[in-house]
Amino acid sequence: MALIFEDVGIRFGSARNELTVRGVNLRIERGSTVGLVGESGSGKSSVAKAGVGMNRLATGRVTIEGSELASPTRTLKHPARYGVQLVFQDPRTSMNPKMTIGETLSEAAALYRKPNAQNGRAKQGRGLDAQAAARRAEELLRMVRLETSHLARYPHELSGGQLQRVSIARSLAVEPDYLLLDEVTASLDVSVQAAVLNLLRDLQRELGFAMLYISHDLSVIRYVSEHVYVMQHGEVVEHGEVTRLFDNPQTAYARQLLDAVPRLGGARWQHSEA
Ligand SMILES: Nc1ncnc2c1ncn2[C@@H]1O[C@H](COP(=O)(O)OP(=O)(O)OP(=O)(O)O)[C@@H](O)[C@H]1O
Ligand SMILES: [Mg+2]
Repeated sequence: MALIFEDVGIRFGSARNELTVRGVNLRIERGSTVGLVGESGSGKSSVAKAGVGMNRLATGRVTIEGSELASPTRTLKHPARYGVQLVFQDPRTSMNPKMTIGETLSEAAALYRKPNAQNGRAKQGRGLDAQAAARRAEELLRMVRLETSHLARYPHELSGGQLQRVSIARSLAVEPDYLLLDEVTASLDVSVQAAVLNLLRDLQRELGFAMLYISHDLSVIRYVSEHVYVMQHGEVVEHGEVTRLFDNPQTAYARQLLDAVPRLGGARWQHSEA
């Protein structure tokens, strides 16, 4: 069981333009944490967006547990129903400033539809009613270790770290199996970053979702990932098990990326079942 990107190509603008992302193959096993790293503009966000139907594919396909999510002729409309969620770098721009935290979370919770046991896909039809959605909003807020008093607040009344927790809570509303996290700690102070990373690790242990963790911060990538993909100019140039890749990069580009950061100690998430 996995979320798989196969030969993914993405083109922006005119059909005559060259592909911005070319031939990307990525595999995120159920429950695992995969890192995606590469310089600014290398195509990391473009790939993640293709995974939730925000970018149309020019080539290839994206599948989840063997079912097609996206292809050049089909862009899924409600990826959340299929268990894939994308969390963005800046929670301030991805959240409606006119809605309270409670409203934002209730709205997300109301979308939730129980998956069909047979094919794993969410059923059509009504999601949670208003009361159930409000209860779920409280539960989601507690899951990300925020006080329920935050429900009545507006986004501008929360710190960046608190807001990123809300944004993670929102993504969890539909019980995703795969979370695509696009630079989610990049805009936070180092200490807040660590708290958000540890929260994600704890939630992953509790809930079992897989993560694609996108970052240009190699120390974070090393800390969280089991397997790492390196992108450059719209292509995956190298991938491999995290320790192997960090200790013995095979490509000049990966070596250059690694040389650019100070060597850190071997602190790693414990991925074994606790
Ligand atoms: N909607 C779009 N329309 C046109 N060009 C785009 C669009 N989205 C991305 N691009 C271009 O595609 C290339 C890859 O962008 P992308 O955002 O995927 O890079 P990235 O690896 O996420 O970079 P960063 O680390 O800065 O977030 C860039 O050259 C960017 O300008
Ligand atoms: Mg990006």
